[in-house]
Amino acid sequence: MKYIIGNWKMNGSRDLAWKLTLDLHQYVAAEGRGDAKMVLCPPFAYLPLMQDFLSRHQSAIGLGAQDCHAQSSGAFTGNISAPMLADIGCGYVILGHSERRQYHAESDAQIALKVKAAQGSGLTAVLCIGETMAERQGAQTNAVLSQQLNGCLSPLPDAAKLIVAYEPVWAIGTGLNANADDIESAHHHIRQELIRHFGPGGGKISVVYGGSVKPSNAKATLATPGVDGVLVGGASLQFADFRDIYAACA
Ligand code: PGA
Repeated sequence: MKYIIGNWKMNGSRDLAWKLTLDLHQYVAAEGRGDAKMVLCPPFAYLPLMQDFLSRHQSAIGLGAQDCHAQSSGAFTGNISAPMLADIGCGYVILGHSERRQYHAESDAQIALKVKAAQGSGLTAVLCIGETMAERQGAQTNAVLSQQLNGCLSPLPDAAKLIVAYEPVWAIGTGLNANADDIESAHHHIRQELIRHFGPGGGKISVVYGGSVKPSNAKATLATPGVDGVLVGGASLQFADFRDIYAACA
């Protein structure tokens, strides 16, 4: 199974949510294949209308959020809990994205609690990890990935409801896609770490790549050994681009 996950970040509108969901649903219904799973992660505000559409059309497209709180309810103004996401029909949630780590000072320990909370509500957690350019230049990539995994996988979550996204911070939104060797090497390292944490079950966890994935590099990225899909930001907001990235799975 290859995952093609769209992270809209804080972009879009009601009109765009309707149009993009409709167009992508029609495409996947006509051309979709069982071995490629498309998941859309819009801002919270558009989840209900998209979920309503997708469920009414029995769409194969999955729906996810971009964050959740570690607690299930309480005095946490402005936050959304995992049970609420499950309640409105979400199946996935992106956690630990580098923008959350950077702008909301999320630590690995906090992300670990969110992963547990998400899974406790039946959601699949898309756990993001990745090194900065300075860390890569300092030959720290594998050490950073190990450290983030150690922090985010304690307590150990459910391997069956976990996707790991390797997103080098320097490749996000910059147009700089990591090259195939870098991706293969990082994914191999992540795979070894997952097996160390989970045992043989770690070999089955999907590891996807994110960072400036576009139609022009999607085929090569998806064909790179160890890559089980892509997490797409900017290009997921354009129907033709996201469709072509999905089609590149073939
Ligand atoms: P990008 O974002 O595709 O725009 O680089 C990827 C992400 O942040 O998930």
